[in-house]
Amino acid sequence: MISQSFVSLTVLLLGLVNLSPAFAFPQYGSLAGLSARDLNVLIPRLNEVDPPTPPGPLAYNGTKLVHDDAHPFKAPEQGDIRGPCPGLNTLANHGYLPHNGVATPSQIIEAVQEGFNMEHATALFVTYAAHLVDGNLVTDLLSIGEKTGLTGLDPPAPAIVGGLNTHAVFEGDASMTRADFFFGDNHNFNQTLFDQFVDFSNRFGGGFYNYTVAAELRFQRIQESIATNPQFSFISPRFFTAYAESTFPVNFFVDGRSTEKKLDMEAATSFIRDGKYPQDFHRAAQPSSTEGIDIVASAHPVAPGENRDGKINNYVPDPTSADFSTFCLLYTNFVNQTIGGLYPNPTGVLRRNLIKNLRFFYSGIADAGCEELFPYGQL
Ligand code: HEM
Ligand SMILES: *[C@@H]1O[C@H](CO)[C@@H](O)[C@H](O)[C@H]1NC(C)=O
Ligand SMILES: *[C@@H]1O[C@H](CO)[C@@H](O)[C@H](O)[C@H]1NC(C)=O
Ligand SMILES: *[C@@H]1O[C@H](CO)[C@@H](O)[C@H](O)[C@H]1NC(C)=O
Ligand SMILES: *[C@@H]1O[C@H](CO)[C@@H](O)[C@H](O)[C@H]1NC(C)=O
Repeated sequence: MISQSFVSLTVLLLGLVNLSPAFAFPQYGSLAGLSARDLNVLIPRLNEVDPPTPPGPLAYNGTKLVHDDAHPFKAPEQGDIRGPCPGLNTLANHGYLPHNGVATPSQIIEAVQEGFNMEHATALFVTYAAHLVDGNLVTDLLSIGEKTGLTGLDPPAPAIVGGLNTHAVFEGDASMTRADFFFGDNHNFNQTLFDQFVDFSNRFGGGFYNYTVAAELRFQRIQESIATNPQFSFISPRFFTAYAESTFPVNFFVDGRSTEKKLDMEAATSFIRDGKYPQDFHRAAQPSSTEGIDIVASAHPVAPGENRDGKINNYVPDPTSADFSTFCLLYTNFVNQTIGGLYPNPTGVLRRNLIKNLRFFYSGIADAGCEELFPYGQL
């Protein structure tokens, strides 16, 4: 909220004094939550794109070497953006995504399918969910992390919110290896938390991360947030992404030539800390998604909810949040509340691109049989 009013003020002043040459709003900066007045100033400065139809599923969907000669590891340099997702960080470090960490939804879908064999519908749903809340819907660009700053200003303007680091729309609390937003850094690798990841793998997985470890660590991280984070929030969509992401190390970071559903700690460190494919890494042997999520969620059932009244140890379930028994409510609330709240009254190209991106998003769950919503009408 604070950063948004700073943006509003900055945008307003720039509009009044017309400092355009010095004013560089990044093309990937999110427009979510900005006032109509700010949008009117910003949108003419953006490169308008008509979002293309996303790529289809992989033609060849088996395992193959993905850490190949064409995709060597190259560490991020000054100015490259990395964020809370070890999967996307790895893809950017190996050239499956642009090395600067700014990509189109189509590039992300292509990359997660090609580089990890993420199942097509899952790739669509997750990517467009992220793009709708954290991306720039006019330019069709999304940054895989980092809050961005208004550059070229003297004195520098305060950072604006953008990219996958943005808290509470996609990024959320109780991550395995990233701290809660409340503690300051919600996106960088946290060694203390990773030590716990290793400890749990030793205690519950015989030195490997498997679905049993995933279940115990997921519950542990929730308990820690309840006990330490007065602003802990664990409602949809975070409720779902937390459980889904707990399965990802098993489903995507295990070499596709192995039939054992367990991840060794060397590979875990390589992916999660370094964003790096292990040597000779082969992607999953079949299109993969959230396999194992039932094991993780049923081991220690937790209802979606939050610490009420800014108090620790005050976790109160929220019956209005979607949970595993009300999947379509996840879709409905996301479209009606989350997107509707961020973009109450879009017009012009912004409205057109919202409509298109909402359709692509829905195409990722069309099989679930949820009623499709058109809050901005149809084209
Ligand atoms: C399809 C596009 C994807 C998007 C937009 C995306 C985005 C994100 C975001 C925003 C987070 C942070 C959530 C949080 O913990 O607060 C995250 C976490 C995570 N992502 Fe991704 N992701 C994508 C695909 C993948 C893939 C393909 C993998 C695995 C290869 C992956 C693995 C993970 C893991 C393991 C975490 C949890 C990290 C932790 O809890 O410490 N993601 N992702
Ligand atoms: C993988 O590709 C094969 C061959 O084209 C196809 O029959 C199968 O349905 C695909 N699997 C998935 C899960 O898409
Ligand atoms: C790492 O996470 C722990 C537990 O949430 C937190 O106390 C600590 O401050 C974090 N460290 C850094 C450097 O953010
Ligand atoms: C995880 O590993 C432990 C230790 O070997 C084992 O007891 C447990 O059954 C495994 N869990 C799964 C889901 O394979
Ligand atoms: C979504 O919101 C619209 C407009 O506020 C409303 O008419 C519609 O009934 C809502 N849809 C659902 C499924 O809640």
